[in-house]
Amino acid sequence: MNELPAPPEHALALSEQLSELIREEIAAHDGALPFSVYMERCLYTTGLGYYSAGSRKFGSAGDFVTAPELSPLFGRCPAQTCARVLEQLEGGDILEFGAGSGALAVDVLGELERLGHLPGRYLVLERSADLRARQQQRVAEQLPHLRDRIRWLDTLPEPGFAGVLLANEVVDAMPAERFRWTGTGVERFCVTCSAAGFEWQLQAATDEVLITAVQGLQQDCGLAAGYISEVNLSIAPWLESVAGVIGRGLLLLCDYGYPRHEYYHPQRNRGTLMCHYRHRAHTDPFLWPGLQDITTHVDFTAVAEAGVAAGLDVTGYTTQAGFLLDSGLDGLLQASGPVDSPAYIKAAQQVKQLTLPGDMGERFAFIGLAKDIDGPLPGFRMQDRRHRL
Ligand SMILES: C[S@@+](CC[C@H](N)C(=O)[O-])C[C@H]1O[C@@H](n2cnc3c(N)ncnc32)[C@H](O)[C@@H]1O
Repeated sequence: MNELPAPPEHALALSEQLSELIREEIAAHDGALPFSVYMERCLYTTGLGYYSAGSRKFGSAGDFVTAPELSPLFGRCPAQTCARVLEQLEGGDILEFGAGSGALAVDVLGELERLGHLPGRYLVLERSADLRARQQQRVAEQLPHLRDRIRWLDTLPEPGFAGVLLANEVVDAMPAERFRWTGTGVERFCVTCSAAGFEWQLQAATDEVLITAVQGLQQDCGLAAGYISEVNLSIAPWLESVAGVIGRGLLLLCDYGYPRHEYYHPQRNRGTLMCHYRHRAHTDPFLWPGLQDITTHVDFTAVAEAGVAAGLDVTGYTTQAGFLLDSGLDGLLQASGPVDSPAYIKAAQQVKQLTLPGDMGERFAFIGLAKDIDGPLPGFRMQDRRHRL
């Protein structure tokens, strides 16, 4: 941990304010909070949480780089899928969840304009007021002529939504529970505090939803006694509410994660909890609350099951590399300039990062959940990995 650059004084002061709020909440709850609540407070407390406060998170000056930040070619690929769905629907809207810096919105809209398939509206549902302001500024600078089509929402739209819903790296940022399988029962990781700071505390789980979820994982994956991992209990209620507003359309999720048997693999017995600060990844969520990202990988089987339970069809599941190449990434690269031009060389480097297996190509995956949409859709034609879910 020593190698992490220390945050500036003013950032540490904000982190201390957030820590004090969390300590008060811990005291009000018999001395411990579930880890999911701690994670929620660290990421989303108004004005102080990682995603709610004003620090720069994405890109080279931030803490991590997401695919839309890495390359404008990324967003042009799901735009091909959007175009096909909008064509089937003879119109419709796009709704993006958690739009980050606004990069994906700009690239998807730009490509849809080129393809002659602009959506009626591009809606953004963003929890963070700070990120919303950044997105508005980016759209105003880069797509001033399309500004009127873009709307920011505080809640899901009314039922009957027709179109495409996009979420890049949103599910990994949802608060997750951390658990330990004892061999006969479930323990939940809670967060307590002492003079030394925040600390883990294991408690026998009493939450029926958590117990049932972990028992199901134990049956499916044969967890050994002492196995530690996470489970994201927000996925099912989130997908149920999202599916409830879709009249016809496609929900397209991209994130890092695995199918269930790989996620809860015997060797991954310490889970996937990760923190990011200034491009360093580590596993201590108690460091500088509010100043670092906290994430868990996505169990794509859980996404598929929750989608089906909510009335959606799993229309495709594939690696990020498979999705981007099937959407025409190679052609977009060729069109970026002569092969020896700086533009081409830069784009080729980005394509490598997006598609190489050891980079983002196989660590990230796309899953499509559809209601009343004909497939196969661009992105999912070349490689079908649904049997692995
Ligand atoms: C890792 S960032 C990804 C940002 C952006 N999509 C990108 O790829 O650069 C996670 C984003 O998800 C948002 N988020 C988390 N839960 C959400 C939810 N339930 N609804 C909408 N946005 C959410 C956060 O506010 C944050 O903007």
